[in-house]
Amino acid sequence: MKQGRVLLLAGAGVAGVFSLLVALAGGVQAHKGAQGVVKERMKLMMRAEKRMRPIARMAAGKRAFDAETVRRNAQDLMQYAERIPSLFPPGSLKPPSEAAAAIWQQFDTFRQQAENMRKASQQLMQAKAQTLPAAVQKLQQTCKSCHVRYRVEKE
Ligand code: HEC
Repeated sequence: MKQGRVLLLAGAGVAGVFSLLVALAGGVQAHKGAQGVVKERMKLMMRAEKRMRPIARMAAGKRAFDAETVRRNAQDLMQYAERIPSLFPPGSLKPPSEAAAAIWQQFDTFRQQAENMRKASQQLMQAKAQTLPAAVQKLQQTCKSCHVRYRVEKE
């Protein structure tokens, strides 16, 4: 997954999209054994990353600002955030899942993290060219903040 990340960040331009897809496929491949709700939430997370990508590129000045793409992708992200809590039923942490047991010991906090992502996505929907970098950073912070607490690298 780490390597996939680097490729994702390095991918540039339209041609880059194909290598990105290959990188994503590699990520999915690594979780080949995933089933049911674990598979479903992994897919949702991968989609979230995919929706973030063009917006992050705009924020970095590597792609022209396009309010409609920002609005549409941010809306998807908002809906993903709303679905997150229901995709973590108790006990669904068997490998290849990277979900931490702490999720179910502190489910209210976990839910709050998803709510933070929802709010940041909602704000991102209305971002203008000037406010985009800050809005993107804020949203990415909500991804990281949840991953640090509730996602663990398992063998
Ligand atoms: C409320 C907590 C939470 C938030 C918010 C969150 N994630 Fe996650 N994410 C997780 C957990 C937990 C896992 C591990 C799930 C598993 O393996 O069962 C994960 C896994 C992932 C993965 C790996 C998927 C895979 O196939 O293994 C990616 C990519 C990801 N998240 C991207 C994002 C992005 C991008 C955002 C923000 C836009 C985000 N996440 C927001 C909790 C969160």
